[in-house]
Formats: sequence, C-alpha cells, structure tokens
Amino acid sequence: MASTPLAAAREALAGIVNPRVGQDLLAAGMVEGLVIGDDGRPTFTFLLRRDDPATLVRQIRQAFQAADLPDPKIQIKDPSGPAKSTHGPPAEGDKAMPPPAPQMSLPNLGKVIAISSGKGGVGKSTVAANLAIALARAGHRVGLMDGDIYGPNIPRMFGVFERPQVSADRRMQPLEAYGVKLMSLGFIVERDAPAIWRGPIIMKIVTQFLRDVDWGTLDYFLVDLPPGTGDAQLSLVQATNVSGAVIVTTPQEMSVGDALRGGKMFDKVNVPVLGIVENMSGFTCPHCGEHTDLFPTGGGDKLSGELKVPVLGRIPMQAQMADLADRGKPIVVASPESPAAVALAEIAERVVEAARTRGGAELPILRG
Ligand SMILES: Nc1ncnc2c1ncn2[C@@H]1O[C@H](COP(=O)(O)OP(=O)(O)OP(=O)(O)O)[C@@H](O)[C@H]1O
Ligand SMILES: [Mg+2]
Repeated sequence: MASTPLAAAREALAGIVNPRVGQDLLAAGMVEGLVIGDDGRPTFTFLLRRDDPATLVRQIRQAFQAADLPDPKIQIKDPSGPAKSTHGPPAEGDKAMPPPAPQMSLPNLGKVIAISSGKGGVGKSTVAANLAIALARAGHRVGLMDGDIYGPNIPRMFGVFERPQVSADRRMQPLEAYGVKLMSLGFIVERDAPAIWRGPIIMKIVTQFLRDVDWGTLDYFLVDLPPGTGDAQLSLVQATNVSGAVIVTTPQEMSVGDALRGGKMFDKVNVPVLGIVENMSGFTCPHCGEHTDLFPTGGGDKLSGELKVPVLGRIPMQAQMADLADRGKPIVVASPESPAAVALAEIAERVVEAARTRGGAELPILRG
C-alpha cells in the first residue's frame, strides 16, 4: 500500500504497460511533472504519440480510481506537437486550442440531453442506453451519441458492430437498435486504434457526429459523455444547444466530489442540470421487493442539495445487468419488470418532465 498520494499515483502509472514499447508508463518516460495539485488531484503531462493506444488515458483514470485517487488532470502532449489539456478550457495563452466552432443550431435533434458523471464506471452508459430505449418505447424519436472518445461502449451494449453506411450526399447513416438511432466512434475505429482522437480532433468528431450524421428529426438526443470535465464535454456543450444534463452518481459519498465538479462545469456554460440519477443504489429483492442498502447512502441527496437540483431516481443493483449488457441486451429490454428497469422507465418520464420545464432550449415565459 503506497504511503502518500504521490507514491500511489506513481504506483498506478507503473502498473500500466504501453504495448507499443513493452514498458510501463513511467519506465517508458511518458509521464512528466507528476504532482499532487492544491485541489488534491494528481496532475501531469502525458507524452502520448499518435501511434500509442488511446485507451491508455482511460486505463490511467481507471487505475487512479481503483487506487482511490481523485480523477487526474492530464495534459496530453504529442511529443511531436504542442500540449492539449483534457481537462477544462485551455489555459490562457494556450494557442494550441482552436477557438470553439460557431454554435450550430440543430433543431432536428430535439432536446439534447447530456448524460454525465464525475467518475468513470458509475453507470453513465447504462443509464444513457436504457433511458434512450425507455424514451423510444414511450413513443419518442430518439438518438443516442456515444461521446466517449476514449472508450466507446455503446456498440457493445446495443450489440451493434456494423459500419455505418455513407449516403450519396456523403452523410453517415446512424445504426439503429431497439428503436434508437445510434452513432459511436466504436463503429468507425478499431479497438485500441492509435490515439489520434484528442484535443481539437475531438471537437471535430463531435461536430461531425452532430452535423454530418443523418439523424433525421428527433425528439430527444442523448449523449453519453466520458467521465469528468474534459474536451469532449466542453466541445459538445460549445457545439450545440444542450438542453440539459443528467448527472449519474453512486450512493457513496466519495464519488460526490467529482460529480459536483461535473455539475459546476455545466453551470459555468449555462447548461441546466436536470437532475441526479443515483445508480447502484442498494439492492431490491426481485422476489419479495425488500430493499437493502449495500453501501453508505445519501450520495444522490447530498449532490442534489449542493447543486439544488432534484434526484430523478435511484437504480438498485441488479444481478446479471453487466452480463446482459455485454451481450447487447440492456436491462429495460432483457428484464423490463426488474426493479432496475422499472426505476429506469420512471427516470425516463422524469427526464421528459424536467426537460420540458427546465430545459435550456425552452424560451422563457414572459408574464405581463
Ligand atoms: N444498477 C446496476 N446494477 C448492476 N450492474 C450495473 C448497474 N449499473 C451499471 N452496472 C454495471 O457496471 C459497469 C459500469 O457501468 P457503465 O459502463 O454503464 O458505467 P460508465 O459510467 O459508463 O463507465 P465508463 O466511465 O467506463 O464509461 C457495467 O458493467 C454495468 O453493466
Ligand atoms: Mg461509459
């Protein structure tokens, strides 16, 4: 067990091997200037070449999470190019970041709802996928964009692995499953593809997904964001008119700090947080309906209090959920009567209501 956060961070980095060079990240000299920042977050520059796997960034985040370290601030630097931050807007004077693209007005997408979380692995993709299907089943026209550039997992969850068709006018056709139109980087790039999807390129991809995919006319457009407050979140928020964000958290207090930072990020860019979804919130017996809390509780309520937004619902732990998702069967499809699926369907209704009453795309009602 490492004695200090710095030692723990070094240990986590030394535990990840870059397959291109067959050495761990420290030995390979990929980490520069590792410090623990004033906010307690490990901060460093990560020298990632174009031909290194992009998944290394994700592996770092997962290793830090497993070591109970705060989500790191990683400056990604291509040794052949200038540094790009994966966290937050570019520092003043950072000429490497292009100005944000002009905001696109995409009324055909309907309400754009971002599903976000401070930490990885809390169930964002699960919530995004199941909400999308629940909304489609309630009769809405729904699109789901996998905005997780570093580890797209929507294809697997929907069991869709085809390549999208490109029409004569060079527009990409979304794939479709369970009544939801889908687009994911996972459809386009091979697993562990070289890490060219960074910084300004992320912006480009997000823009293309929004503009160049033939989404048709939708009522709801859900975006599964990568964890944290990185480029993809900001790109999306800057690129279009996001109606609202849904923040996924778990009952443990621990993850609230990160989720709170995520919520504040949306505040800063004037995107209303529609509410909190507390996932893995205890266990409901499928036979007798009795509910047991497995972990310390109150995470959702605490976050809701701090951000002054409602808890949209709580999803209990559900046996086989991961297994079913891996086989392309989200829980609302595989087991619609299960406590988790019922909770998700209710959350979908509350999201509709919250987007109607609090969504940013809504014009203010002027009273005389
Ligand atoms: N309520 C639940 N009960 C049981 N398993 C769950 C539940 N919610 C999510 N899971 C499982 O937990 C794992 C993580 O969920 P998911 O991939 O949705 O998280 P995520 O926040 O999108 O993660 P990442 O940050 O890696 O994108 C998955 O295997 C998923 O099937
Ligand atoms: Mg995910």
